[in-house]
Amino acid sequence: LLAAATAAAPTVQGVSAERLFDQIEALGELSDTTPPSITRVLYTENDVRARDYVKGLMRDAGLEVREDSVGNIFGRLAGEDDSLAPVVSGSHTDAIPHSGKYDGVLGVLGAIEALRAIRESGVTTRRPLEALMFASEEPTRFGLSCIGSRAMCGRLDPDYLDTLRDENGTAFYEAVTSAGRGGGHENTASILSAALIPAGGIHAFVELHIEQGPLLEQEGLDIGVVTAIAAPASVSFDFLGNGGHAGALLMPYRKDAGLAAAELSLAVESWALGTKAIDTVATTGVLQVYPGAVNSVPRESHVEVDVRDIEEKRRDHVLDMIIKSAEQIADKRQCEMKYRIVNKDPPAPCADDVVAAVQDAADDLGFKSMRMVSRAYHDALFMAQIAPTGMIFVPCKGGVSHRPDEFSSKRDMENGVRTLALAMAKLAGV
Ligand code: GLV
Ligand code: MN
Ligand code: MN
Ligand code: MN
Repeated sequence: LLAAATAAAPTVQGVSAERLFDQIEALGELSDTTPPSITRVLYTENDVRARDYVKGLMRDAGLEVREDSVGNIFGRLAGEDDSLAPVVSGSHTDAIPHSGKYDGVLGVLGAIEALRAIRESGVTTRRPLEALMFASEEPTRFGLSCIGSRAMCGRLDPDYLDTLRDENGTAFYEAVTSAGRGGGHENTASILSAALIPAGGIHAFVELHIEQGPLLEQEGLDIGVVTAIAAPASVSFDFLGNGGHAGALLMPYRKDAGLAAAELSLAVESWALGTKAIDTVATTGVLQVYPGAVNSVPRESHVEVDVRDIEEKRRDHVLDMIIKSAEQIADKRQCEMKYRIVNKDPPAPCADDVVAAVQDAADDLGFKSMRMVSRAYHDALFMAQIAPTGMIFVPCKGGVSHRPDEFSSKRDMENGVRTLALAMAKLAGV
């Protein structure tokens, strides 16, 4: 009985919040904006430096490092039976413009710290363990989120990816290869297929992340045990009107593309509120007018809308209605309108076994926890398509995220990493 109890709950010691904090600060220096405002965009100079920094940390922690063709980086700790599929944990270090130091970063550095602690505690698990830094979770560069995890699970069409451009008109293939990635492959299709994880290739996946919401802090809890991840979608719109001189083009003759965009963003809000479900959210996060001069009637406008819900059907209905509104607004304002659904992903339920491992780990360590859903998306959304998946949330100050004042305390981060280490050890067997 004692042996069984010991096997179920190995002792992992030495998780250091100080080390984690110092690493988060060091990574925060690799930013296109001045910390604490963080901007780190896929395959840019600071992103490449962040990759090198993370690889160095993995080596220091005694992990064997490899990087795939897309730029997903793995740090591996061998298991007793190294032929078995690994238990994997990771997140991202890319950061949307003017965001904070913790989103994603905690899940990457925390996974490395968890594996270091497991190794230094002398615990050898039956299965190998891996810390993973996904190529990019944020949609900043190409408008599409989770490029690394979509590629790993085979849910990224190379022809579609090739149609996307960054703000300078650069395509994915050019960006990945000029950042020294791509594994020497000739085209996007072969880069993506080289990153594919075969069925059964991951035994279980757990992602540690700041909550990005206020519940844990409000309830005075240590750990959020995530049970599902909400379904994200995004759609972009372009309106084309006539434009002209702000003084000379009289009101009755205007086809104002800027006002079409303004009306659409109000429609987005009202369709989201219209479901009367607190779980429906819709955001117009990009709204641009061209040529963008005070004495020029907007000739063109570009709008990007994000729609999410726990219920996919309701999310899809809101998305449809927003598109219908855009058509009506374009009609009324005599503008041409084009739209494109950038992504429309299903929600992901977490796997019972992984939820149980996280819950048991939190309980064993005496942490106060609650079950919760993730309203933000994560690479875990896609890993759930190829492996039993779960997530661990820790509190963040005021529930704030995607802002420079994003913050999680050393104690909260340490609790999260200790829970992660124990959950991974349980899932990997001892
Ligand atoms: C990712 O940061 C998201 O938008 O949920
Ligand atoms: Mn984010
Ligand atoms: Mn994140
Ligand atoms: Mn996210």
